[in-house]
Amino acid sequence: MTAIPVTIGRRMPVPAASGSLGAPAAPGAAPGAVGVGLPLVDSHGRVHRDLRISLTDRCSLRCTYCMPEQGNEWLAKSSILTVDEIVRVARVAAADGITTFRLTGGEPLLRTDIVEVVARLAGLTGPDGGGVEVAMTTNGIRLPQLLPGLIAAGLSRVNISLDTLDRDRFAALTRRDRLEDVLAGIAAAAASGLRPVKLNAVAMRGVNDDELVQLVQFAIDHDVQLRFIEQMPLDAGHTWDRDRMVTQHEILTTLATRWTLTEVPGRGGAPAARWLLDGGPHTVGVIASVTAPFCGDCDRLRLTADGQLRNCLFSTTEYDLLPTLRTPADPSVDAGIDRMLRACVKGKLPGHAINDPAFLQPARGMNAIGG
Ligand code: 5AD
Ligand code: SF4
Repeated sequence: MTAIPVTIGRRMPVPAASGSLGAPAAPGAAPGAVGVGLPLVDSHGRVHRDLRISLTDRCSLRCTYCMPEQGNEWLAKSSILTVDEIVRVARVAAADGITTFRLTGGEPLLRTDIVEVVARLAGLTGPDGGGVEVAMTTNGIRLPQLLPGLIAAGLSRVNISLDTLDRDRFAALTRRDRLEDVLAGIAAAAASGLRPVKLNAVAMRGVNDDELVQLVQFAIDHDVQLRFIEQMPLDAGHTWDRDRMVTQHEILTTLATRWTLTEVPGRGGAPAARWLLDGGPHTVGVIASVTAPFCGDCDRLRLTADGQLRNCLFSTTEYDLLPTLRTPADPSVDAGIDRMLRACVKGKLPGHAINDPAFLQPARGMNAIGG
């Protein structure tokens, strides 16, 4: 029996085991084969190496492009994956060739067991015995207290969101007066041994598009890498407007008034294209998901805090791992997880359809998907 994709909001049973599924992998087996220990290759030949794990849909900020000010429907506490469940999924994913785990939210540092999550993920190994990388995307607010423990636990990289350097703007944009806390988090990351520290800035017309040069200069001054992100239709309020979004082209045109930009070759599967600033060593990145999609090289899967596997930010289909984890029909839970990972990868489309007039925004906001 083949896996049944789950439309958002519905919970379907896990696909039953069949034939060789779950059997130990033969070393060197062909891509496309099934079983724990074999690579996760989709029907377009993309090998999946990156699993983004959302740890919670809660956040200490309320960024307008992500969450509504009020009335957010939180995920039920009982559906949130425990650290044991997360690690169980991640162990199978690592055996299947996932080498990077990126922890996201909402705000991942709101999880009280965050240090344990990092430590246990960092201890996983791949099919060849190699280690994995554990990275995090955070709003930075709790970094000053937590970063030493996270680094000791094995955190290898951190990305922090920063859209403006102006306190009033920050308060309006995030609906919280916490700019100073975020800046302290960035300072803590910059003072740590983690490199590169990356900053994410969503470029927004009439909000921060007059601050692009200052944001880059701030990053240079603090020895961190800034990446601008084109705003995507993922806000819980469904207010995204193509005509208002600031494009990669506009961002580069603005930055070119201050620096000579030289594109860095060899981007691989990375979402950000990068440019040297005045010949380097500093760079700026742009994640142009809307005007220059990079789906052809995508190696990412996502796991939501309530146990739904997703093959794309913009997918409207989810693959429900909760029954596999909590009421397994099959005694081999790992084989069930592996089947779900493969079903999710198999269902991946060649690219998103943001630019299609029939595009349907996912029901979840970004805070419940994980960036
Ligand atoms: N469009 C673009 N980027 C977004 N992010 C959150 N929502 C959106 C959106 N609608 C960014 C955050 C964070 C990263 C995880 O995703 O700024 O840096
Ligand atoms: Fe991959 Fe989907 Fe992102 Fe495209 S939009 S790069 S398919 S996750």
